[in-house]
Amino acid sequence: MSASPPSSGEQLRDAYLRFFQERGHRIVPSSSLIPGGDPTLLLTSAGMVQFKPYFIGDEVPENPRMTSVQKCFRTTDIDQVGDLTHHTFFEMLGNFSIGDYFKREAIAWAWEFTTGVLQLPPERLWITIYLDDEEAHDIWRDEVGVPEERIIRLGERDNFWGPAGTEGPCGPCSELHYDHGESHAPGAVPGDDGADERFVEIWNLVFVQFYQDASGERTLLAAPGIDTGMGLERIAAIVQAKPSAYETDLLAPVVQRLEELSNKSYGIEDNVDHAIRVVAEHARAATFLLADGVVPSNEGRGYVLRRVIRRGIRFGRTLGMGVDTPFMEQTAQAVVERMAAAYPELTERRSYILQSIAQEEQAFGALLDDADSYIADTVKTVRASGGGDTIPGRAAFNLYDRYGLPLDLTQEIAGEHGLSVDIEGFEREMGAQRERSRAAAGFAVGRDTARRFDGVGDSVFTGYDALTTDTVIAALLKDGVPADAASRGDELALVLRETPFYPEGGGQVGDTGIIEGDGFRIRVRDTHRPIPNAIVHDAVVEFGTVRAGDGVTARVDGARRADIMRNHTGTHMLHAVLRRVLGSHVRQMGSLVAPDRLRFDFSHTAPVSPEQLSEIHQVMNEAVRADLSCSKGEGGYHEVIAAGALAFFGDRYPERVRTLHIGETDAPFSYEVCGGTHLERTGEVGYFRIVGESGLGTGIRRIEAVTGRGADAWVDRQVALLGAVAAKVGVAPADVSRRVDTLLQEADEARRAGAAARRQTSLQQAEELLAGVRQVGGVNLIVSQTDAASADTLREMGDWLRDKLGSGIVVLGTVLDGRPFLVAMVTKDLVARGYSAGDIVKAAASRMGGGGGGRPDVAQAGGREPGMLPDAFAAAVQAVESRTT
Ligand code: SER
Repeated sequence: MSASPPSSGEQLRDAYLRFFQERGHRIVPSSSLIPGGDPTLLLTSAGMVQFKPYFIGDEVPENPRMTSVQKCFRTTDIDQVGDLTHHTFFEMLGNFSIGDYFKREAIAWAWEFTTGVLQLPPERLWITIYLDDEEAHDIWRDEVGVPEERIIRLGERDNFWGPAGTEGPCGPCSELHYDHGESHAPGAVPGDDGADERFVEIWNLVFVQFYQDASGERTLLAAPGIDTGMGLERIAAIVQAKPSAYETDLLAPVVQRLEELSNKSYGIEDNVDHAIRVVAEHARAATFLLADGVVPSNEGRGYVLRRVIRRGIRFGRTLGMGVDTPFMEQTAQAVVERMAAAYPELTERRSYILQSIAQEEQAFGALLDDADSYIADTVKTVRASGGGDTIPGRAAFNLYDRYGLPLDLTQEIAGEHGLSVDIEGFEREMGAQRERSRAAAGFAVGRDTARRFDGVGDSVFTGYDALTTDTVIAALLKDGVPADAASRGDELALVLRETPFYPEGGGQVGDTGIIEGDGFRIRVRDTHRPIPNAIVHDAVVEFGTVRAGDGVTARVDGARRADIMRNHTGTHMLHAVLRRVLGSHVRQMGSLVAPDRLRFDFSHTAPVSPEQLSEIHQVMNEAVRADLSCSKGEGGYHEVIAAGALAFFGDRYPERVRTLHIGETDAPFSYEVCGGTHLERTGEVGYFRIVGESGLGTGIRRIEAVTGRGADAWVDRQVALLGAVAAKVGVAPADVSRRVDTLLQEADEARRAGAAARRQTSLQQAEELLAGVRQVGGVNLIVSQTDAASADTLREMGDWLRDKLGSGIVVLGTVLDGRPFLVAMVTKDLVARGYSAGDIVKAAASRMGGGGGGRPDVAQAGGREPGMLPDAFAAAVQAVESRTT
């Protein structure tokens, strides 16, 4: 009797890897969801992605048999997620042969694993093969013993797989399907319409034979191989006898967290279940994307991430969550708890993941309310205008642009209102915006220049080793037009056959310097590379006449270049130190390497604290003083990535790349792919100092720093500033802080004394005014101008006089900042008799060119004309009199 089959997620992964390890396979860890060095692919979508170079023959693996559990992400079905079967993120179990075994072994082992290890009943398994793949057919029927009627032939759509991305390996395939039984779709076979509930595809065996290029053309690969994939979530649901992956141990804890958060139960109401599945899946997907370094943004991978977070939020809202609970964040927490054992990166980057989700959730929650009401309004307008059942493209674009609402969400919401969206109109608006930003970035100019220089021949960059090179002018453009010659004052763009001038790239700015020849000199202001082959110098002729074909000596401004290199090597060191101090989630998102400073943008959610900054300084400058060696290398892109070199994801790298390795051979301080120019030793950095730290938006921080001469200049400026302040306050720099404290204290005391003195004067004045009380119709009345220096003082004087009068009316005025200001106060007994401070100030204000108001017992007014105060007082008196008569 056999032991019970593997069933939990852990057991299934383990059993799979072990099964193939026992059959000579090397266990290879999952690669990142960001496909390293594969610009044809947005996200890793299959187990074979990391092995593409092996299948193509660009590289040779140590062992031609490999097996893995790969993190995968598929974006094609995002809007279907929420049903029982579609996922964006999933794990794929796979075995691979690179020119080693082929169909016979792949098929036999797949059968052995499913029926032997997993103990699935053989009669439940159906096989599909590619139309005329007789070889696979015969192996299944004659060697494995699958009855003819359970072997189904399907066409290219179902049984030809690949490529992953726009180009790559592909081939016919054969699939194993699990049959849930006749009761679901009686008489059906795999591939039939409407048979999805009955047959679940569990394993895809791809017989990799072709390379398909971007145009769709297929060529035979030198050696055929095997690429198989079995979705872990699906197989778990089958062996655990659950209706979907959401009830398996892989996702049940996440669903349970959502039940707690929403106070709803899974499995009772269809739309609640659907929403719970959406949130669970998307929280899991977002967690894994963030762990692999994807940062929320409005394009590419960052947009996919944003899209799943936002779609999750929207569905979570329908469960009544989200008003006060950051439920995506809490759901992600459950994901981390469940998955961290298999994917330690989740624990390592836990706080970064959760903070990023929380930030997105906060920002989007508010926008969502606005977007919902905008859509409701749009729907109303569309209906009212008899505009049919389509939301205009411009409205959909506004939702995207203003509220960050992805198009698919707009479509979903519109669908709930029974409307569709004008996609073409949306695309038009998007295109127009892209055009605007492209124009703003000046790309148009670059392309133009590029076209002109196309075909002048390659320029060779000599500047890794030399700052001076003797060479020949290959081509020149004068005022943007190809020319034979140029003379003094002419602006040039020129190409040399060889050049030591570094063209702007990888963040490093272009070199400047001099190009000299017989009787002429050219000053180079900038260097760039508008097309891969040509290095273009932007220059001006200082004297003489220069011709295409002339021999020249090209000389880079060496001091400036040395400054640049200090900042470039410093940037690599900073990247490494940030990953140590802040965590390995830190990734370079952008950089600028100039002679006077460096700027480094990286993924991190919180501001870098003063303690962390000081630790960064300490580690950096220790590494500078340790004078580590900086060795430059070269190699195949995949080879150096496999050896641990960091690359700037999203960049397109050539096949052969340069690398910079700082520190010891076995334990590098930093190891990165980089085509820039660098120091020989870290000691040359001199001194490193951060001069700015700020946030750029969700999840990205920016550090600005200086090294070498830039740091000298910065320190000089700080010292000079301190010296100037010290001189102003009349002490030595060391005593500045104490002296400033004293001065601040003195100033404070002086301010207080002044205020007390003014108050004293005002009260004295009030006493004098009390003497001038007059009677108007039997009412005590004081009306006067004062010297009060503030509205508060004036009110205080009024209060004091009113209290002294016991019963009466006080109207006081003053001039504040060149404008008349007035208060009126009436004692309670007179208010009861119908006197009103409000009426009085209104009458007065009308004479000062201003306005005023207040309560019956206190009111105030302001005006424009100080000269009108006496008039205003007269009006006030009149107002009191008119009340008496
Ligand atoms: N590459 C195939 C798939 O993804 C088999 O692994 O289905």
